[in-house]
Amino acid sequence: MIWTKEQRYRRIEEASQEELLKLQLEVSDCKWRQTFHIQPETGLLNDPNGFSYYNGEYHLFYQWFPLGPVHGLKYWYHTKSKDLVHWENVGIGIEPTDDYDSHGAYSGSAIEHDGKLFLLYTGNTRDENWERHSYQRLAIMDKAGEIVKLEQPVIRDVPNGYTDHLRDPKIWKDGNKFYTVIGAQRENKTGCVVLYSSTDLLNWKFEGELKTNLKIFGYMWECPDYFKLQDQGVLIFSPQGLEPKEDHFKNIYQSGYILGDKLDLEKLTLTHAPFQELDRGFDFYAPQTMMDADGRRILVGWMGLPEIDYPTDKNGWAHCLTLPRELSIRNSKLIQQPVKELQALRKQQHEIKDVIHQEKKMYDAFTGTSFEMICEFENFDAKEFGVQFRAGDNEKTIIKYVAVQKKVILDRTFSGESVGDQYGTVRKCFIDESKIKFHLFVDTSSVEIFINDGEEVFTSRIFPKEDSKEIRFFTTGGKALLHATKWDL
Ligand code: FRU
Repeated sequence: MIWTKEQRYRRIEEASQEELLKLQLEVSDCKWRQTFHIQPETGLLNDPNGFSYYNGEYHLFYQWFPLGPVHGLKYWYHTKSKDLVHWENVGIGIEPTDDYDSHGAYSGSAIEHDGKLFLLYTGNTRDENWERHSYQRLAIMDKAGEIVKLEQPVIRDVPNGYTDHLRDPKIWKDGNKFYTVIGAQRENKTGCVVLYSSTDLLNWKFEGELKTNLKIFGYMWECPDYFKLQDQGVLIFSPQGLEPKEDHFKNIYQSGYILGDKLDLEKLTLTHAPFQELDRGFDFYAPQTMMDADGRRILVGWMGLPEIDYPTDKNGWAHCLTLPRELSIRNSKLIQQPVKELQALRKQQHEIKDVIHQEKKMYDAFTGTSFEMICEFENFDAKEFGVQFRAGDNEKTIIKYVAVQKKVILDRTFSGESVGDQYGTVRKCFIDESKIKFHLFVDTSSVEIFINDGEEVFTSRIFPKEDSKEIRFFTTGGKALLHATKWDL
């Protein structure tokens, strides 16, 4: 179905109860609804926004177009949780209501101040010539959960030298000053990040552009996020317009980070190592982090990408968020681990230890459509080994290690209904270790695989048939010692 501009920019209250009910029924009929991921009740979800801990709860908003599986008029949808595992749908958080966000309440972030939660976001507007104008706006949430927008934008003008692609403010506090990085595009159509500062959250001063080594690196950097971790500075962002290179940058847009010295807030310099991708799978974009009450840095991403059709579209919804991941730094790399609270989801546990030396080895109770599984392979002389899951007649998703190439490979060629095939159906990354560990979280239509305790992550949607439930271990050209533990979720 082709969505016209009018249809994309309809407000939720313009839809009748009947239309909404029909859409809800279509969605609930979908065989690919997730069981333990945040997903929209109807319509399209994209970036996580305003991820924060406030008043004893985690708050996580997301970009939302309610009326169908397309990018249209964006709202912030509000969810909250006491444990990062069980999320309550609260309802619409920020509505696009006026001249400063008429075409969407775009992405942004949150910070607690004076007992309230301040939400800084981009108001997206289009004029009669469909030219974009962006404003940065504040909305304030109180302890009762009521959110009130400030009438006037707090940043109204685009600084000289930059285009109207100025969005996705990520806020933090350093000493008694507030700072925000904002994704930007220079007039020469290259991407970058700019910095603003404020003492009261209301008045913002343009400080300038962050000075990185990435002078020409894509045409737009979306969703920047700066934070300190283990005494280093980390800048996460989602650059658009990078060309694929060997096993890298295979998706339509990328998400990654630069790691180095802490940002010099006076000189705006960021001395850093090369850009690294955060995720090696097919569906990951626009992540956002927060620091929780225990000082953990936690990341959530959008498990999806723009400009690609997904098989759930025909049921009136698209996308979900990733599981929350705790970040740390090891060997100059950002390490992602599923937060420990997720263990609360574990039900029945099954465990096996075996030497695998065949092309298909299956075990009782090692089946399912929604499970967590840790597989450790060691003492291997096999050329390849790994596991097929969500497998059935003609379907399988494969995660394997190809020892001769020292590569971990995720293959979704036969995962079920296809998605984004024009970007390839295989993803690879280099790992050189004598022990290979795959930690999988499989939900009805997704998989997140943490490799060797979070050294790499493959995040992907998959759309298999309901009865593709088998888990098959395999080696080729030799053997491997396997230790696998699986929990139904
Ligand atoms: C990233 C993004 C942001 C923007 C939002 C709009 O996916 O394009 O730059 O704020 O989505 O929904």
